[in-house]
Amino acid sequence: MKTLLLVYLCVYVAWGQDNLDYDDGEGTTVDARGHRPLTKGRDSYNPNRYSPAPVGGRNRYQGRPTTALTGQQVKEQKEHPDAGGCVHASDEMGVQCPTGCELKTTLKKQERDVKTTINNLKPQVDDLSRSSNNIFNYVNSMSNSLRERQRIFNDNNRVVGQYTDRVEEQHVYIKETVDTIFPSNIRVLQGVLDQIRLKIQKLERAIHTQDELCKEPCKTKCPIPVVSGKECEDIFRRGGIESQMYMIQPESGSLPYRVFCDQTTQNGGWLLIQNRLDGSVDFGRRWDQYRQGFGNIALDVGKGYCQTPGEYWLGNERISQLTKMGPTEVLIEMEDWTGSKVNAQYRQFTIQSETSNYVLAVDGYSGNAGNGLLEGSTELFGENRTMTIHNGMMFSTYDRDNDNWNPGDPSKQCSREDGGGWWYNRCHSANPNGRYYIGGAYTRRMAKHGTDDGVVWMNWKGSWYSLKAINMKIRPYFK
Ligand SMILES: *[C@@H]1O[C@H](CO)[C@@H](O)[C@H](O)[C@H]1NC(C)=O
Repeated sequence: MKTLLLVYLCVYVAWGQDNLDYDDGEGTTVDARGHRPLTKGRDSYNPNRYSPAPVGGRNRYQGRPTTALTGQQVKEQKEHPDAGGCVHASDEMGVQCPTGCELKTTLKKQERDVKTTINNLKPQVDDLSRSSNNIFNYVNSMSNSLRERQRIFNDNNRVVGQYTDRVEEQHVYIKETVDTIFPSNIRVLQGVLDQIRLKIQKLERAIHTQDELCKEPCKTKCPIPVVSGKECEDIFRRGGIESQMYMIQPESGSLPYRVFCDQTTQNGGWLLIQNRLDGSVDFGRRWDQYRQGFGNIALDVGKGYCQTPGEYWLGNERISQLTKMGPTEVLIEMEDWTGSKVNAQYRQFTIQSETSNYVLAVDGYSGNAGNGLLEGSTELFGENRTMTIHNGMMFSTYDRDNDNWNPGDPSKQCSREDGGGWWYNRCHSANPNGRYYIGGAYTRRMAKHGTDDGVVWMNWKGSWYSLKAINMKIRPYFK
């Protein structure tokens, strides 16, 4: 009996070491999960939907005058009197919090999960003392909780850093113990468990402290530049040639709001509408929040003005308004975890209004990231590929399903499974608003629903690689 157990254990350990970087799929070589294949005879796929063409017509701007910019200087006001920091233009977006109040919320949620897991572990350890067979389950739970925690603990908090290292040490230690002195040393495991409990209490106290700090809105000095305009191209032409946060007012009569302008890439004039770079903002949000926008427009990292963009979604209302003003191009830039960069650019990009659920229309691809939005995933073929085209799709969030996967069936909703709001078809070749995974490679097991819910651009890195950074910026199209 003992020998048999040992054999099992060895097999288990060998498997356990592999399963973090290897997907135990159905043995296929290409495991492209972006689509939801047809279950033959039980459902069908209709790719044809009404999709308006992107806004064309006259350009709002002629080419850039070559000399216009030299005379003007960008000056900045000392500080907005009422500002007190980078308060977002609309109240719903809250106050910027570069010290990580958002992270704190995530952390707190996670801490609760871990605590529950640990509590569940306790009786299991007791069981172990009686029946050594249960050791398998124990190590299994331990690995799961560790993997789960690794997935979500992606912040720079020192306390958590220490905590993570120690739990990892404990995990290694437990595995060793199980290997060598199995099964006589159950009591050691109980001690370890108690230590983990202590550490969680410490973490709880740290979170409580941060809670207190976060009661007051965090404040940063974010002077508003004197130059403003209709959008970032307008600002550029008025002399705002530094990349930073600006106030814009696309149409007279609407309220001005803050955006980040990239005034350097491809001669500038780009208005940032989406940005991911460190996972600090949760993108799994409701329809209303995607409509209004969320996240941090810009941060001051010590230079006295807000020249570093934060993670944010500008908001579908604003994106729609800006792209319907005239021909608009979009530039999607992305970066992997080794620092390689590629981009995809569309000469035409329009988001219709909310009455048509913000239908996406793009055209005129160029770039080296792959034309996922128009052609779908090149890993897939036939209908499977068509299912991953985003052009012509409506916007979906987890509480508002407008995708093309069995419309009306509440169990078949792309946004619920794939982590963010997006123009899902059935479902995606690109998922820029997906879950943020530190390090890139992730697996079916790590994903909440077993789907490729990461920050994915299939035509560059496939389904199981979550990008380090991705952003989308728009500019009025001109020659
Ligand atoms: C579509 O995907 C399913 C499942 O992945 C596969 O069985 C089928 O052969 C694919 N169809 C095509 C045309 O590649």
